[in-house]
This record gives sequence, structure tokens and C-alpha cells, in this order.
Amino acid sequence: MRARIATAIAAMAALSLAAAPAAPAAKKPSKRKAPARWEKTVRVHTAQPGAQLLVQVRAINCAKSISVQVEMDKRYVGGRRVAPGRKREIALPVAVSPGWHRVVFHTPRQKRCRLRVGLVRVKPAPPAPANAPAPGDAAYVNAPKRRVPLGAAVDSRPAVWNDNQYKDAFLRSFDALTPENVMKMEYIHPERNRYNFADADLLVDFAEANGRPVHGHTLVWHEQLPQWITSRRWSAQELSDAMRDHIDTVMGHYRGRVGEWDVVNEPFQEDGSFRPSVWHETLGPAFIEQALRFAHRADPSAKLFINDFNNEGGPKAEAMVRVVRDLKSRGVPIHGVGLQMHWGAGPPPSVADIVRSLRRYTDLGVEVQITEMDVGLNPSMRDLAEHREHQQAMFTNAALACNAVPECSRFTVWGVGDKYTWRGAETEPLLLDSGFNAKPVYHSVRGAFAPR
Ligand code: XIL
Repeated sequence: MRARIATAIAAMAALSLAAAPAAPAAKKPSKRKAPARWEKTVRVHTAQPGAQLLVQVRAINCAKSISVQVEMDKRYVGGRRVAPGRKREIALPVAVSPGWHRVVFHTPRQKRCRLRVGLVRVKPAPPAPANAPAPGDAAYVNAPKRRVPLGAAVDSRPAVWNDNQYKDAFLRSFDALTPENVMKMEYIHPERNRYNFADADLLVDFAEANGRPVHGHTLVWHEQLPQWITSRRWSAQELSDAMRDHIDTVMGHYRGRVGEWDVVNEPFQEDGSFRPSVWHETLGPAFIEQALRFAHRADPSAKLFINDFNNEGGPKAEAMVRVVRDLKSRGVPIHGVGLQMHWGAGPPPSVADIVRSLRRYTDLGVEVQITEMDVGLNPSMRDLAEHREHQQAMFTNAALACNAVPECSRFTVWGVGDKYTWRGAETEPLLLDSGFNAKPVYHSVRGAFAPR
């Protein structure tokens, strides 16, 4: 059934941005200089989630073309140049949730030049690019939908955790939780003989109380290490003992409550060599095997993962395959490979490409997960509309690929919404916007899987 056209139009009548100084001049004649920019605010209404904002703009009496910038609910949604006299229709793809929205147009001041803004309305979002799959994708796109949990990284550091909207947005939108920071060694094990479980307990309690499974992140990594690890030289035996104590204590604390762990994080460099780290330098490549064996002993029922970024293909993926195959062949406990997928918006890989990336690991007899996906836009904004399309297609194709590979057991994004993201809010890399509204891309990722 065709979607009912969302309506709108609080501002059907043409609006003018007058060229004369815009200030409410009457009461206090002011000597202030006229502002360098004008703005005009309109309100639009929509009944439907996910939409395009359509505006008609005309530059009258302008000597040269004029740039128009548009904000919706205080969020920059795009800009265009408008040539003098020309009527120009601008379509700005923005995530619009049902209800009223404030749209503000900004233009720089130009003598005698008037900007006329009309026909502001919202129309339903265009179909997700994934609806036009690349040749070869059809079988994957049409694969039976599985219930894959959609997870998000959550941070219990106070600046984020105490944001009133944060926890609700998570609960409304996501099925599973990965602690973004507070299980990392620098937080949870700040001194050799002191563990700090408070922040991580907060998350695990919250997840448990709300029926959300937790993916533990992360036990052995080269970053976010405490000083007591980085500030001295270790013998192999000492470091191995310290690693065992860390894994035993952390996994032991959450035994039976945290069902899966990124035991080793980011062990490879781009060329497939082992990444230099205190672990590798002191223990050699065997640090991976040691960590996995300690982890299995600490909680025999937990699923153990190796996690990395840029491991969809190329030398890094080949190295990961070699290592996992070797571990499996020697009976070392390893249950899954995580693909972080911190991507930048660009031409999207096809679903079939991503399926191939996942299968190179599942063919070895392990699970896969997308563990940290985010897709940053280029904040230069020039190709914003195109970037958003790419972003949506990248997320959607990754979700469709995960759905089509039965061993893909979870799809996690690296943050609840754009307000708090390590990529910078201006890159809008997540599925909810800075006001925690679901973007169209949220719905297309959800739609790749069976309903919860
Ligand atoms: C990032 C967090 O999101 C930031 O808040 C923190 O400052 C640095 O770490 N790969 C990983 C994650 O495995 O742990 C990283 O998380 C992002 C890259």
C-alpha cells in the first residue's frame, strides 16, 4: 500500500525574507549594524516518521547567487546556492519524527536582495537505497528474516549516564548492550591490586533489569591501559600472570551475567602483522592464545571473541583468518570474530560483498558479529544528501548481510545517538540523531531483521 503522504504545511503561503534590516526597529532606534545574516523561521508538521523536507526558494533582485542554509530543530540539515531570479526546489533528506518542527532559513545579507521561501512541506522518505540492491544481492536481501539483536554501546560515565533521555532512548531502540568504556582495563583495573567495578556494575545491573544481554568489551587491548601496565617493563611470566589475574577477576565478577567477551581487541595492523603492544612485545603472538585460555577457564560458558576494525578484507582479514584457523585446529577456545565497522560515508559495498567478508570467518566454524558500527558523514556538508544516502545504504547492507548469514549473532552500533559519539556529533554517525529521534536509517536497519 502506498504510504499516505505526510502533510504539512504550516507555511504554505510564501514567506519573504525582507532585505531591509530585519530588527524590530520601532521601539529603540538602534545604531547597531544590520546583522550579516538574516533568518526566517517556519513551523512544519508531519504525521509520519522519516521524511524529506521540500522547500522552494527564489532569490529576487539579487546581484549574485545567494547561499541558503537550513536548520531543523536546531540541527543543520543542509544548504544550497540559489541563482538570482531562479526558482529552486531544495529537497533535504532529514529524519523527521511525527509532530511539529521548527525550520530556520539563514542567508547572508545582500543589498536589495530578497529571498522568498515557499512550499515548505515534508514528504515521505524515499525508499532506502537498499531497496534497489546491487545485482547479486537479491538472494541475500530476500533471505528469511532472523531475529538478530540490535545492540548499542552504552557509557555509564556520569556526563552521559545522567542525561535524562539517554537510558530511555536506549531502551526504546536497542535490544543488547556493550559497555563503551567502563570495562576497559584503565577503568575497571586502575591499580595493580585494585579493581573498580562500580561503573560497569551500573551497566550490567541496568541491562539485566531490562532483559538486555551484555557483550563484554574488552579484556586485552593496546589502548586505554592503566599506568601500572604501561609504565614499566615486564618479564613474560609477570605479564602473563597479570593478564590472567585481570581476566579471572573481571570475567569471574560477571560470570553467568555477561555471556560474551571481546577477549582480544585489535591485534593486527593493516598489513596483517601483529600490532606492537605491551602484550605482543612481551608475550609474542601467543598472547592471543593465552588470553583465550584464561578467559575460558574464568567462565567456561562465555563466548569468546577476537574483535578488530578494517577486517572485512585485505591483509588484515587474511591474518585474522590464519590465526583463527590455527587456534581452532589446536583446540584453543574461540567462538567468534567481531567486525567493528567504523566506516566513513562513501559508495556502499554491496550486500554480497559484506556477506563474503562475514563468511570468510564463519567458514572456519566461528560466529561473527558486527560489533561497533558507525558511519561518519563528512562534516564539510557539501554532499550531505549524498552522504546520508551512502550512510543509510552502508548500514542497511551490513544489516542485510548479517541477517543473511546464520552465524551472524548480533549487530551492534557504537553509541545510542549522535549526541554522544567518539566520532564527533557533527559527523552524525549513528542511528538516532542528537535529540535521540530515530533516523530513517534506524528503521531500515531494524527492517533488515525479524521484529523483536
Ligand atoms: C572508543 C570510545 O568510544 C571512546 O569513548 C574512547 O574515548 C576511546 O575508545 N575501537 C574499540 C572501542 O574497540 O573500544 C573504541 O571506543 C573505538 C574503536
